[in-house]
Amino acid sequence: PIPMILDCDPGHDDALAILLAVADPAIDLLAVATVAGNQTVAKTALNARRMLSLAGVRGVPVAAGCDHPLAGPLEIGDYVHGESGLDGPVFGEPDVPLDPRHGVELIHDTLADAAEPVTIVAIGPLTNVATLLRRHPDDRDRIREIVIMGGSTERGNHTPYAEFNIHADPEAAAEVLGSGIPTTWVGLNVSHQALVTADVLDRIAALGTPLARVCVELLTFFGSSYQQTWGFEAPPLHDPITVAYLIDPAVLTHVRVGLRIEVDGPYTRGATVADLHGRMDWEPNANVGTVLDRDRFWDLMIGAIDTLGRR
Ligand code: BDR
Ligand code: CA
Repeated sequence: PIPMILDCDPGHDDALAILLAVADPAIDLLAVATVAGNQTVAKTALNARRMLSLAGVRGVPVAAGCDHPLAGPLEIGDYVHGESGLDGPVFGEPDVPLDPRHGVELIHDTLADAAEPVTIVAIGPLTNVATLLRRHPDDRDRIREIVIMGGSTERGNHTPYAEFNIHADPEAAAEVLGSGIPTTWVGLNVSHQALVTADVLDRIAALGTPLARVCVELLTFFGSSYQQTWGFEAPPLHDPITVAYLIDPAVLTHVRVGLRIEVDGPYTRGATVADLHGRMDWEPNANVGTVLDRDRFWDLMIGAIDTLGRR
């Protein structure tokens, strides 16, 4: 299996990414760090513990990382994910403990202990990963690749031009991109191909397990946020695409292009600029996702919910 660290801010779609990462035998989930993003870091850490508990997973450490971005104020995504960060279902007390380490140190220790380079899947603001590279620059050699949900080859969601995760910490995103570590980017242009349509929701509901019911409750709340904020008929399930791509690279078509992060624009701060047509004379520096194989993706995601629900 592929050794993986998940850096996340659950968050409804993060919650399903956690389920996919623990269900599929192709992945060896070594650790979960959380970051402030969709909600405060205390809430995202609690939510990660809730999801691992529900999935019946013990022994994967969960730690809370950075509580604010490298620069600028913290802006949370409560208008999408609610007061708890995971509004919808009622959760019991999780029986997965909070690791006392800082999330960044959990990532560092996990990399140090791993027998081979590890893939980091980052599905929240990139503050933890950037802080890791500042504090422990030698760790870059222990990271095989960073798969990121963030940005877009088109426009934004949190602002007209910027996607939430990158807008939340553009300096961090720029540092991670500039680190020289291989990166693959799943942006809104891809995740808007993963809409939780009524037939997808029906397939999950038909699994009939308590876990499937929680997923339906999560996705129903998430769907109403998307309906109210952006008028979407069905919400896009962004984050799990990163994990699905690791499990089965055929899920995602990507191109190798020049990519930059806008940090200065007064109206475009946090935008990702992908030079898809080679207009800028930029050295290709990133793998940028373009097309999602929807059927493969949903089969993996729904299969994971099914597997875990029967355990
Ligand atoms: C990203 O922002 C968050 O709301 C989601 O969890 C996802 O990571 C989508 O823009
Ligand atoms: Ca997220």
